[in-house]
Amino acid sequence: MTEQAGTDALDVAIADALAASTSDASLRRSEQRSSQIEEQIARDPSVFRMLTGDRPTGHLHVGHYFGSLANRVRLQDAGVETLVLIADYQVIADRDGTGPIAERVHSLATDYLSVGIDPARTTIFAHSQVPALNQLMLPFLSLVSDSELYRNPTVKAEHDATEGRPMSGLLLTYPVHQAADILFCKATIVPVGKDQLPHLEQTRVIARRFDERYGRVDPARPVFPQADALLSAGSLVLGMDGTKMSKSKGNTIELRMTADETAKVIRKAVTDSNRMITYDPVGRPEVSNLLMLAGLCSDRDPVAIADEIGDGGGGGLKRYLTEALNEMFAPIRARRAELERDPGHVAAVLREGNERANAIADATLAEVREAMGMVY
Ligand code: TRP
Repeated sequence: MTEQAGTDALDVAIADALAASTSDASLRRSEQRSSQIEEQIARDPSVFRMLTGDRPTGHLHVGHYFGSLANRVRLQDAGVETLVLIADYQVIADRDGTGPIAERVHSLATDYLSVGIDPARTTIFAHSQVPALNQLMLPFLSLVSDSELYRNPTVKAEHDATEGRPMSGLLLTYPVHQAADILFCKATIVPVGKDQLPHLEQTRVIARRFDERYGRVDPARPVFPQADALLSAGSLVLGMDGTKMSKSKGNTIELRMTADETAKVIRKAVTDSNRMITYDPVGRPEVSNLLMLAGLCSDRDPVAIADEIGDGGGGGLKRYLTEALNEMFAPIRARRAELERDPGHVAAVLREGNERANAIADATLAEVREAMGMVY
């Protein structure tokens, strides 16, 4: 769910870099592994621990909802132990300063709670608040080479998208930091889009090398497990202008918007001059995107919706979408509005999540020190 300045350039660059570096065979392996894991979850969710996370760079929108949030809630509700990370240190990997970080962290936590992430079952935390997690970065950095870091295609693409900024040490090494995010809690599954696969591979390499170099506290079991990506389709939903849904383009429908604000954004959506509404993603991408979103919101086939609207034109389509979307998100928005009136509750959820994450991180760091012989 990377959302940064220059998002479009970034997407194209990431797609190119991945095409060059990730062979079809390895992508297919990840896909196969993902469906195996889904089957295992259906049988026994208790053997997994899931970690996911987002950079707190803006408000979450319906693209995030259908691309990843709904899936997290599904896995949580299926009984997978879940941690959700607010990756605040990652914000400064490629920008100057933290911006309105406290508001953004609070807003992200509010979004999580409003979509159904349940703090009784799921740990929501920010990695800047968990010192032992960050300390794992030091031994982990000793396990990777600089050329390995420079080769990471996603880092390269992200750097290219900054258009001439010098590469910060943090941008170069953030995949190692992300390995610390995943390994501090010994997560075994990480739901991500394709752009994050290089970081998952780096994480597995670090876990393996730690074991080879420092050994084990318990001879039967390495300190760190091998984490698997659970590949998600990513956000299929485009913005109201038919390009990627992105805050910087003002084409998003945010979770926090009111029904009226939503209607206004949809009214401005790009369609075409053919009054007959048909689902044709290649020939009519803008119209088809609105149909797909309407389908997701009403749990219907976009083709059936198109048939129903018939020659109702863009106006008819927009009315249908506005109603379907506002209806589907009404309970989420009501919950969000309630949470906004109770900022103390959101702060308490974060405090508790940070506490739980600290307990886990402290235990893992103790094991790491023991494996490394650093107990004095
Ligand atoms: N890099 C991820 C993104 O931009 C966010 C993230 C940080 C993350 N740490 C993570 C995702 C650990 C999964 C696991 O979307």
